[in-house]
Amino acid sequence: MGPSADYTEKIPNNVGLHEDRRLQRALESWQPNFLSWWESMGPSLPTQDVYLRTAVNVGREGWAHFGHVPMRDYRWGIFLAERDGDRRIGFGEHKGEPAWQKVPGEYRADLQRLIVIQGDTEPASVEQQRNLGATAPSLYDLRNLFQVNVEEGRHLWAMVYLLHAFFGREGREEAEQLLHRNSGSEESPRILGAFNEETPDWLSFFMFTYFTDRDGKYQLGTLKESGFDPLARTCEFMLKEEAHHMMVGTTGVDRVVERTVQLMIEHDTEDVTAHGGISLDVIQKYLNFHYSVSLDLFGGETSTNVAGYYTAGLKGRWMEDRRADDHRLTDGSAMVDALVDGRIGETEVPALTGLNTDLRRAYIADCQSGVNRWNKIIERAGLPQRLALPSIAFNRKVGAFAGIEATPDGEIVSAAEWERRKGAWLPTDVDKTHVRSLMRPVHERGKIAAWIAPPRNGINGKPFDYDYVHL
Ligand SMILES: [Fe+2]
Ligand SMILES: [Fe+2]
Repeated sequence: MGPSADYTEKIPNNVGLHEDRRLQRALESWQPNFLSWWESMGPSLPTQDVYLRTAVNVGREGWAHFGHVPMRDYRWGIFLAERDGDRRIGFGEHKGEPAWQKVPGEYRADLQRLIVIQGDTEPASVEQQRNLGATAPSLYDLRNLFQVNVEEGRHLWAMVYLLHAFFGREGREEAEQLLHRNSGSEESPRILGAFNEETPDWLSFFMFTYFTDRDGKYQLGTLKESGFDPLARTCEFMLKEEAHHMMVGTTGVDRVVERTVQLMIEHDTEDVTAHGGISLDVIQKYLNFHYSVSLDLFGGETSTNVAGYYTAGLKGRWMEDRRADDHRLTDGSAMVDALVDGRIGETEVPALTGLNTDLRRAYIADCQSGVNRWNKIIERAGLPQRLALPSIAFNRKVGAFAGIEATPDGEIVSAAEWERRKGAWLPTDVDKTHVRSLMRPVHERGKIAAWIAPPRNGINGKPFDYDYVHL
């Protein structure tokens, strides 16, 4: 089992697939189903080829190869980070035992569930982003969209590999279901709420890749700690690809804010709508929406399921090895967000049951760094406006605050008042229609739409005006 991918195989991989004919046949029979899903649910804009990076090696250097590739010839492969033969479980009641190379019988159902939930998000985002190619603000952005899409497709492959290789017939059935559920479908929606929302415009796309892909980063970060070694190694490699998705979101919002600020100064107004830009208050509403639906992805503030996953060694904490505690948490406690006497406050719970909150807080701190960065752009332009993360209780559908309505400032309001005022906090139909009206494709080399600034850097050292996509 070497680190280099074998691209002579039908399914490129570094897991020695040719040594396991049964598994190879199973995956080869799933492959056409994947491809027909990609044809019908993947990017809808026809292209000749796209400047894509393809994973060729999981090692520290040279894991990616760049080149123009026709999308349907992209090689979705199976790559696990290199195996550390001495790896031991880092937390829970099995702490210190050798990591598992097979699924322990007693944890089979839980592990399968964790993999299915993660796997379900990967194709969901491809479906959500399906029509964005038709309105890309530049060839550079179009290329990034497709890069994100093919990699989410590869992440689906990664989870399907685990299901096929380790979970028998049930795993194969779950792999089929991953292609049958669809984002926003009435009969068989995706498992998690945020993955059934629309991504109808590029501001939504940038917010999605900033806030929702970032949830993915944190979930993968906990699964990379798993005692089940193949899952840990898969997630470790997925995280490398995820970094590019974060970059697309972070710099995408940077560029929208930068352009808005230019227009504000040029026309000496806060409302840049008439000048072809997106006003800061609309950017704030999109931020409010994507942040709040992404907070829901972390689940309830307390969870006995997650406590169980931790104790069993299935799912660790963010940066588990940097935590200065016993990595078992059997007698610690933690403060979690809660409604206390009808107010937004905190309550003390056993540390194990508070792990969703622990992860969500790491995520929130990370999200704040993006907001700080965008505020720097506004500040450097000499303008007084600022963006902000809304209250943790704002627009929540899951957890302690699902039953109440709160303003972005964290003031609890009645349902009637929420209805009356929510248009000031979440994108209205008017906002969405305006943003969509700006979404006209710019498919000429080196050109960019008027509502967004060009990027500072191109991809892989190429300039912005490189021919990233041939239409
Ligand atoms: Fe992913
Ligand atoms: Fe992603």
